[in-house]
Amino acid sequence: MSSSSIDQLASTIGRELERPGGQAAIAGIIAEYARQADDWRAHAHFAEVGYTRHLLARTERFELLLLCWNAGLASDLHDHSGQSCWMTLLDGQIAEDRFRRDAAGSVQKVGTLDLDLAVPAFIDDGLGLHVIRNSPHHRSASLHVYARPVESCGIYCRDTGQVLEERSLRYDTVRGDGAPDVESAGEPGGGDPQS
Ligand SMILES: [Fe+2]
Repeated sequence: MSSSSIDQLASTIGRELERPGGQAAIAGIIAEYARQADDWRAHAHFAEVGYTRHLLARTERFELLLLCWNAGLASDLHDHSGQSCWMTLLDGQIAEDRFRRDAAGSVQKVGTLDLDLAVPAFIDDGLGLHVIRNSPHHRSASLHVYARPVESCGIYCRDTGQVLEERSLRYDTVRGDGAPDVESAGEPGGGDPQS
C-alpha cells in the first residue's frame, strides 16, 4: 500500500528541516500539496464554536496541522512562541491580518494577506503577530507547519498590546482519532480561539 499524500508531505517536510537551509523549501512544499492533494479532507471536522485543530504529523522538529474554520470564525491576536509558522489555504477563503508591536508595546496592524493556494504565508515572532480570519460566508480549511511544535502561544489585546494569557494549544483530532466534540457536518457559527 502506498503512502498517502499527507505521509509523503510530512516525510518531505521532515527531510528538509533536517538539512541546513531547508526551511526555505517549506512554503513551496505545502503550496504544491495544496494544489495537488485532497486527502486532508478525510481529517476535516468542523465545530459550531471555534475552529478545530487536527494533527496530521508530528516529530521533534515540526508539527503539521489541518485547521477547519466555520464561516465567520477568527483567531485571537497571537504569537508563535518563538517558532516558525508556514500556512497555506486548502479550501475556502482566509485572510491574515498582520500586526507589529512598537517599542512602547502597543500593536498596530501593518497589512492583510488573502491566503491563496499558490501563495503560502510565513510568520515568526520577529515578523510580528497575526489574526487569521475566515470568510463570513464559507467554511475554509488551512494547512499549518510549526517548526518546532508549539505547545502554547501568547494571546494579545489589540487595543493595548498587552499579553492577555499564555494559552495551551490542543488537538481536536490526532491522525483522525478522537474529538467527540467536533462534527464533520457542523453549522456555521461564531467563535474565538487561536491558530
Ligand atoms: Fe498563527
